[in-house]
Amino acid sequence: MAEKMVTLIDHPLIQHKLTLMRMKETGTKDFRELLEEIAMLMAYEITRDFPLEDIEIETPMAKCTGKRLAGKKVGVVPILRAGLGMLNGVVNMIPAARVGHVGLYRDPKTLKPVEYYCKLPSDVEERMLIVTDPMLATGGSASAALTLLKEKGAKSIILMCLVAAPEGIEVITKDHPDVPLYVAAIDDGLNEHAYIVPGLGDAGDRIFGTL
Ligand code: PRP
Ligand code: URA
Repeated sequence: MAEKMVTLIDHPLIQHKLTLMRMKETGTKDFRELLEEIAMLMAYEITRDFPLEDIEIETPMAKCTGKRLAGKKVGVVPILRAGLGMLNGVVNMIPAARVGHVGLYRDPKTLKPVEYYCKLPSDVEERMLIVTDPMLATGGSASAALTLLKEKGAKSIILMCLVAAPEGIEVITKDHPDVPLYVAAIDDGLNEHAYIVPGLGDAGDRIFGTL
């Protein structure tokens, strides 16, 4: 496993909020709000090394040199549906980001990803894409999404997940060693239905109240 490409963001605020999300009695409203808050905190960490450049400005008091972001423009790409739950948190931090969507669901029988939608910014090859999906279980959905984005021309991609199983991390680092992966938790593994244990259940259902 290419360890340096996997970053665990275990900030105390994130751990606290994630524990609340995991609790089975946490309802849809709180679950959704907590996910958005965690996504915002993760976006803050993920962008820590984004390049800056100097800019000469004038404050009401004096001329000075300020800093501004200098790297690629950002695109955020939630994997539908559950990735949508992390979108606002990231966009709150990067308001100028364009948003693409990749629609994939995991077939419950085969556990293979099924693609049903893809709409991306037209300049996708020039952007730094932040792909969001709260759950990285077998890794099949995220890996397929990353392959699709590369086929569409994406050159720089970051994958941002909330909870990951070791099995999913293995798949992503093997299939996409060029894609940095950020997670807030690495759980024990998968159960017989390929759900993450202890995990938090079905993220899409808990976000959208379709349990
Ligand atoms: C969930 C989750 C991931 C996928 C993870 O989506 O949001 O996309 O499962 O599983 P994998 O790593 O084994 O592929 P789901 O298929 O439940 O669709 P949904 O977001 O529409 O609920
Ligand atoms: N999808 C989810 O929403 N949760 C899991 O634990 C695995 C896949």
